[in-house]
Amino acid sequence: RPSNLQMEESSNLRRANCRAKGGAPGFKVAILGAAGGIGQPLALLMKMNPLISVLHLYDVVNSPGVTADISHMDTGAVVRGFLGQPQLENALTGMDLVIIPAGIPRKPGMTRDDLFKINAGIVKTLCEGIAKCCPNAIVNLISNPVNSTVPIAAEVFKKAGTYDPKRLLGVTTLDVVRANTFVAEVLGVDPRDVDVPVVGGHAGVTILPLLSQVKPPCSFTKEEIDYLTDRIQNGGTEVVEAKAGAGSATLSMAYAAAKFADACLRGLRGDAGIVECSFISSQVTELPFFASKVRLGRTGAEEIFPLGPLNEYERIGLGKAKKELAESIEKGISFVKK
Ligand code: NAI
Repeated sequence: RPSNLQMEESSNLRRANCRAKGGAPGFKVAILGAAGGIGQPLALLMKMNPLISVLHLYDVVNSPGVTADISHMDTGAVVRGFLGQPQLENALTGMDLVIIPAGIPRKPGMTRDDLFKINAGIVKTLCEGIAKCCPNAIVNLISNPVNSTVPIAAEVFKKAGTYDPKRLLGVTTLDVVRANTFVAEVLGVDPRDVDVPVVGGHAGVTILPLLSQVKPPCSFTKEEIDYLTDRIQNGGTEVVEAKAGAGSATLSMAYAAAKFADACLRGLRGDAGIVECSFISSQVTELPFFASKVRLGRTGAEEIFPLGPLNEYERIGLGKAKKELAESIEKGISFVKK
């Protein structure tokens, strides 16, 4: 039975061989909250990603079981498990990308903001660990309410002196994934051929699909726009209600998170033209954070694209989104400052 040290050496050797063959650079990725509803299928998908050589699975419960299970998959990444706060630093040291789906999900009747009390503290603690152990890592923040947890993370990193706005990315990919799916249904086309920009934030009216900018170019009736906007904004609630108390979106979220993480890793590798929507420190509006299309590169989000021309319907939506966003952002900032 090989020791951990031997496993480590063999993994380093494997990575060196891979590099020598011009293969994947072998990124190190940690998932915090890896034993949860999102964390488990996300760990599965990350273990299948050929860009990853080392996968760390951290949680406050059940991570040894998830790690043992995932580690039997015959893919390249070496998997290691970490359980509880005392092991957080080891989980984070040396990571290139940290994905955070830790925290409680919604139950029917709850808004994402109702999660603030518990999840704000969880995100703060985890980000303090990141600032200490892997200050240069890209952070993909999934824990809700994203509109407040991203500002919380930013404040924690500022306090620690490690803040780089390009590396802190709120994950809004599920809104784009849903928008692509619902728009494709209406158009009767393959969702893989559809690209819907979704800007603003990640909660209710802050989720602003730009249906006037759908690719391939198309037009919708007023009824279709109302239907699509409502369904995209409330897609999360649709799942929460269908699950009837058993949580919120986990499988589609894991898919979305894996898609976004893969885009971040391809950016880190130096691939050109990697563009995704993300909730990020931004000057696209007067708000300090906003979701829009960003170009991912070797140093994180290297370019933030403007919103482009909006129609009247979208301008009204933008006004509503900004109002709610301003409050959620302020709530996050003052949580750390006070
Ligand atoms: P879950 O309850 O199934 O899993 C959360 C996991 O986090 C659990 O395994 C728990 O032990 C762990 N955890 C709790 N405190 C922790 C800590 N201090 N350190 C590390 N791990 C900790 O919840 P689920 O369904 O996986 O959702 C996770 C979060 O993702 C929720 O806040 C949810 O609202 C959010 N979410 C975000 C979406 C987005 O689009 N950004 C979409 C869907 C969910």
